[in-house]
Amino acid sequence: MSASADPVKVMKEQVGKAAADRVKSGSIVGLGTGSTTAYAIQYIGERLKSGDLKDIQGIPTSFQATVLAKEYGIPLTTLDEVDRIDVAIDGADEVDPNKNLIKGGGAAHTREKIVDSLAEEFIVVVDSSKMVDRLGSTFLLPVEVLPMAMTPVMKAIEKLGGQPQLRMGVKKAGPVISDQGNFIIDVKFDRIDNPAELEKTLNNIPGVLENGLFVGVTDVVLIGEIKENQPTVREI
Ligand code: 5RP
Repeated sequence: MSASADPVKVMKEQVGKAAADRVKSGSIVGLGTGSTTAYAIQYIGERLKSGDLKDIQGIPTSFQATVLAKEYGIPLTTLDEVDRIDVAIDGADEVDPNKNLIKGGGAAHTREKIVDSLAEEFIVVVDSSKMVDRLGSTFLLPVEVLPMAMTPVMKAIEKLGGQPQLRMGVKKAGPVISDQGNFIIDVKFDRIDNPAELEKTLNNIPGVLENGLFVGVTDVVLIGEIKENQPTVREI
């Protein structure tokens, strides 16, 4: 690796490419969101262009994935048109030792959970900084909420022991608006001892669309690492 290279970027690229290499011709592919998955989308497109890969259809999880897939020449379809998703590739903000995830750093976790959980094989692509012993240690938990329900949802989250904050836009005044036109509330929990239970409890609050806990969905995690100055990919 060259001295000037950004190691995180290098890890993301390696792991995105490794995931793209696993896609087989004839597959319907869930296309995740974020900077790591962007590399996977790029390399799937490059494999299609070179003829190494044929007859792929992508199902995007966000406007970002749609734009990238179009840029790299990946034909797109929808959940109405297909009866299966063979493989989904997506990033994560945290991964625990049981392969449970926090997602939603890009505010796309609602569509991501639909697509990723329908896939026969869900491959998570992360750099090594995303691995944690316990979910919630480094990242706030994103919750997508209908705008008119923001205040009661925040109060309900406080009653559960969470500290909610409305996600605000960068280079956009006011709150972040999801691809579905909703708000994102990021929640700090002191401890997430039981992700499966918390996932259900949060989704049961009226006005909550979906939260970023992905429990029991992941099949494979590909982790980009730098070992002896060389990028490598480890699988769990
Ligand atoms: C978007 C997500 C992303 O997959 C997650 O935020 C990871 O992004 P990146 O690969 O840019 O670190 O969940 O909602």
